[in-house]
Amino acid sequence: MGKLENKVALITGGNSGIGLATAKLFAQEGAKVVITGRRREALEQAANAISGEVTYILADAANIEEGKLAIQKTVETYGNIDILFLNAGIAPFLPILDITEEHFDDLFDTNVKGPFFTIKEAVPYINEGGVIIGNTSIVGQKGFPGTSVYSATKAALRSLSRVLANELKEKKIRSVSVAPGPIDTPLYGKIGLSEDEVQQMGAGFAQQVPLGRFGSSEELAKTVLFLASNEASFINGVELEVDGGLSQV
Ligand SMILES: NC(=O)c1ccc[n+]([C@@H]2O[C@H](COP(=O)([O-])OP(=O)(O)OC[C@H]3O[C@@H](n4cnc5c(N)ncnc54)[C@H](OP(=O)(O)O)[C@@H]3O)[C@@H](O)[C@H]2O)c1
Repeated sequence: MGKLENKVALITGGNSGIGLATAKLFAQEGAKVVITGRRREALEQAANAISGEVTYILADAANIEEGKLAIQKTVETYGNIDILFLNAGIAPFLPILDITEEHFDDLFDTNVKGPFFTIKEAVPYINEGGVIIGNTSIVGQKGFPGTSVYSATKAALRSLSRVLANELKEKKIRSVSVAPGPIDTPLYGKIGLSEDEVQQMGAGFAQQVPLGRFGSSEELAKTVLFLASNEASFINGVELEVDGGLSQV
């Protein structure tokens, strides 16, 4: 029997990186998995790569109405939700003097505002004993240059998660965050840097990690599975760093 047998799990940004690895693991553990994303082709490919029960919904994480529709479609299909993993996110890095209002809004819309209203829509349908998991980042605890807006979005998501642990207690819904350190995913190809700059930045990050390397999406997925499963039944409100120790040094 899988750890998530018959649980309904919605994973935003489930076509790539951590979201996809988590969707694969959840399905393997018996969950009915719904992934969302903004690119139909990528979603189709991801769904084909997942063994088990999986459906996909085209929904832009930054768009409140599309987030609502994703919840409504999930509920129409499965009745309720047990696990909501707010994973979709963007991480363009820029020094403060280059930051525009558009950059600020894109980041906050995708990483905070969209997830907030998706949670709001989902709460009435989350089963007692369900769990909301935010994918934050250790950047919320550190001061990496070029990440001012990104770090602020992740700190906001972490804060929201803490409040929900208290506010949703009547329904026994747990609310937790997973905070990745540097994880080897396609994200770094999307942050607006050249491949050389990404390589250099990557080497710099890896050097700072006590374990001396990037983590993998699969290592993150295993942690998200733990947090989503009954094994974490008394874990609530926390942000769990999965970063090889980087946030602690
Ligand atoms: N990798 C790291 O080192 C690291 C560290 C700390 C935190 N994180 C967090 O982990 C989460 C997952 O990132 P990842 O590393 O797995 O990167 P990734 O492979 O780029 O995955 C991000 C996912 O989010 C989706 N997404 C982004 N914007 C979206 C939007 N507006 N609507 C719908 N989907 C959207 C992406 O879709 P597309 O494929 O269309 O872009 C992709 O499926 C993010 O929240 C990120 O901030 C990552």
